[in-house]
Amino acid sequence: MKNHFYGRDIVSIKEFDNEDLDFLFKSTDKVRNMQQSEKRELARGRILGYLFFEPSTRTRLSFEAAMASIGGISIGIADVKSSSLEKGESLADTVRVIDQYSDVIVLRNPLDGSGRFAAEVAEKPVINAGSGTEEHPTQAMLDLYTIWKEKGRIDGLKIGIVGDLKYGRTVYSLLYGLTNYDVEIHLVAPPLLKIRKESIYEVEGKIRIHEHEVLNDILNELDVVYVTRIQRERFPDVQEYEKVKGSYVIDSKVLENTKSDLIVMHPLPRLDEVSHDVDNTPKAKYFEQVSYGKDVRATLLALILNEKF
Ligand code: NCD
Repeated sequence: MKNHFYGRDIVSIKEFDNEDLDFLFKSTDKVRNMQQSEKRELARGRILGYLFFEPSTRTRLSFEAAMASIGGISIGIADVKSSSLEKGESLADTVRVIDQYSDVIVLRNPLDGSGRFAAEVAEKPVINAGSGTEEHPTQAMLDLYTIWKEKGRIDGLKIGIVGDLKYGRTVYSLLYGLTNYDVEIHLVAPPLLKIRKESIYEVEGKIRIHEHEVLNDILNELDVVYVTRIQRERFPDVQEYEKVKGSYVIDSKVLENTKSDLIVMHPLPRLDEVSHDVDNTPKAKYFEQVSYGKDVRATLLALILNEKF
């Protein structure tokens, strides 16, 4: 199959269809099975340049680990205060500079639209690693891969997405990505954190969606429950945050009446929405997600950098 990722920007998951995702997943399996020496050739001598203007643990480290695993190196800035943005340099100029040093750019920025903007400014491919509340496409790719690996399929599943559906960008990318599959989606959020209407209009007719406020109304029917953190930093008013924090907590007791093969996912970081007593149950898959994430990102980088794969 043709590599549609070669030289491409990864700004939104909406730009990739079922066939592209299938190609990415199968290519990821291939990379996972490669000998180290073969893997290291995929990006030998290539440079990933990153600009992270919001906190991150996993995403940045997983891109760095991914790039190292395929023989490339990473350079970048993970703190706005240590960059010339602090001196007043524009985002456009900062992106143009890193463009000169890198073969591929990874950007995280608090502004919606920043991924698209950077992709327009840069000549090299830009990967959006989180643009405000808008999207986080590579997180959705690894989320979908995790479901595909752990459940053996995506079609036919009942998937619950729980928590901060208003500000959580991973939710939007996942929802858009899921429109490529025949799934039933259950969105669970308190009224203040319901999904933004425009995204519902966007996916309407492509996917079956049900909205709930009470997790128990649907939890025992689900095959996958994707739990998200309430995004305190994005609330315009901290009192609003106080009203909704701790709205849903998944602990081993809550999981008692669920399907035996339910999987619990979370993009991480978690606060109190998934208790630590779930971690050692076979249902917990959030650390597997982290591990799959590195492989999906390594593969994505290899596909962006090499036409023939
Ligand atoms: C997420 C993010 O940054 O959007 N983190 C991640 O990349 N796994 C989720 C979050 O911060 O809650």
